[in-house]
Amino acid sequence: MLKDWIAPSILSADFARLGEDVAHVLAEGADIVHFDVMDNHYVPNLSFGPVVCAALRHYGVSAPIDVHLMVEPVDDLVAPFAEAGATYISFHPEATRHVDRTIQLIRDAGCRPGLVLNPGSPLSWLDWTLETIDLVLLMSVNPGFGGQSFIEATLPKIAQVRRLIDASERDIRLEVDGGVKPENIARVAQAGADMFVAGSAIFGADDYGSVISTMREAISAVRGSH
Ligand code: DX5
Ligand code: ZN
Repeated sequence: MLKDWIAPSILSADFARLGEDVAHVLAEGADIVHFDVMDNHYVPNLSFGPVVCAALRHYGVSAPIDVHLMVEPVDDLVAPFAEAGATYISFHPEATRHVDRTIQLIRDAGCRPGLVLNPGSPLSWLDWTLETIDLVLLMSVNPGFGGQSFIEATLPKIAQVRRLIDASERDIRLEVDGGVKPENIARVAQAGADMFVAGSAIFGADDYGSVISTMREAISAVRGSH
């Protein structure tokens, strides 16, 4: 299994001092920056785009950036995000006309492609795509807002995707996004995730480092029991 990664969602960061806040959460032990892009079309909310990603790179953020596109259509944003310094670019398959083409565009732009599945989306989206992607992102809330409650039905879905990934024998990340907190992260890890998005749980706390360590300890306890 890949190393477990904690991915703070900067949707809950302080936008007025974003560079500083992102540098802070990384210094406190985060592994990768989760970057939620919303367009008020695919989801009923608006966040930020490639210029903000480029600004973080310019500020000196060198950690991987995990761009989660909640936009429709997708293709026109791939090159701008690649140029802005994205590491992973994930998208919702129903938001693009040609899923395989979008995956190829991301790969050809030099980034790692990921598919995002909503709580109500079937795993059949992975049938002819799993061999070509580097990440599966399972939403454990409906996309659009931070601070929602974790949908429990995601747990058996994580376990099912874990089996598919293991059978593929490729190093594909299994990321879970929405309502992840110190109280439920062990169950998410146990089900088979190796990448944990947390927005409000981390940025809503006074001490980022202590939340991140608590999360890591909860994950380690589960790994230790194997
Ligand atoms: C929701 C976003 C999430 C969100 C997570 O559409 O994709 O990344 O910011 O926030 P929390 O951890 O607060 O649920
Ligand atoms: Zn997200």
